[in-house]
Amino acid sequence: MSKLFLASIKENKEIAGSHYILTLSPLTKTIKPQPGQFFMLSVSNGLDPLLKRPFSIFRVSEKHFQILYRVVGKATEILKNKKAGDVIEALGPLGNGFPRIKPNIKPILIAGGVGVAPLFALAESVKYKKPLFFLGARNKKELLCINELRKIRINPVIATDDGSAGLKGTVVDALSAFLTRHSSLVTRHCIYACGPKAMLRELSFLAGKFNIEAYGAFEENMACGVGACLGCMVNTKDGLRSVCKEGPVFPLGEILW
Ligand SMILES: Cc1cc2nc3c(=O)[nH]c(=O)nc-3n(C[C@H](O)[C@H](O)[C@H](O)COP(=O)(O)OP(=O)(O)OC[C@H]3O[C@@H](n4cnc5c(N)ncnc54)[C@H](O)[C@@H]3O)c2cc1C
Ligand code: FES
Repeated sequence: MSKLFLASIKENKEIAGSHYILTLSPLTKTIKPQPGQFFMLSVSNGLDPLLKRPFSIFRVSEKHFQILYRVVGKATEILKNKKAGDVIEALGPLGNGFPRIKPNIKPILIAGGVGVAPLFALAESVKYKKPLFFLGARNKKELLCINELRKIRINPVIATDDGSAGLKGTVVDALSAFLTRHSSLVTRHCIYACGPKAMLRELSFLAGKFNIEAYGAFEENMACGVGACLGCMVNTKDGLRSVCKEGPVFPLGEILW
């Protein structure tokens, strides 16, 4: 089955300021993506922008898949104006995805901003063990997917930088308070995270302090998406590793910050 395919847009809906959910229907049979994997999407039929852009899988169903995206620049500006019926080219699923959640471990999911996308996919895939979910954003308006999470019976712990909703501070501060309160239980937890690099860095130190296994999905800028251009490398204890091919999910303890 080819990873390069055409998909028709079913819906492209704004869910919060500058944030959209794109529903795509592949025109041919595709490989089912796993949480933490991503697609490279081509937003233009012409040369500008030339490169496809990476987006995590947010939700998968029998016929469709969805991505949740934030408008930040040229490609996402074009994407937001796409309409139902438009056809775009996609490559994927790519990358390794999150490791399988072990049966005796309680998953803690931590999302910063639009980093909620792959973690929502992970939360939906956990059938028997309801994860703890920490959701952070700069302010109340940028908190994403609270209703979608509640629909799958997850009530997230919320943190905003400005205190306009939930706890005031970062989502890592909120997790730190939780781990301090429950320090006797923490070895039975495993952290799965996605968000800005600074958040993953802080989380890596926190997980190290409490000796908890932790995995983070990285969102480096990408050009090829398939390990050919060396444009998305991260420095790890084993040397440079490509986020697109060997990631985007890495054990946080392996990253050299
Ligand atoms: C594996 C992976 C999964 C991703 N998943 C999602 C997702 O689910 N939803 C989503 O909204 N975005 C996601 N991203 C980021 C997304 O790919 C970029 O926002 C997008 O490529 C920007 O394209 P653009 O042309 O609109 O902006 P550009 O014009 O390319 O950039 C605009 C601004 O955004 C910055 N920027 C671009 N890419 C990134 C990035 N990866 N991280 C931080 N800053 C960046 C640029 O430095 C620049 O300042 C993911 C990235 C990766 C690598
Ligand atoms: S984007 Fe080219 S190697 Fe990762």
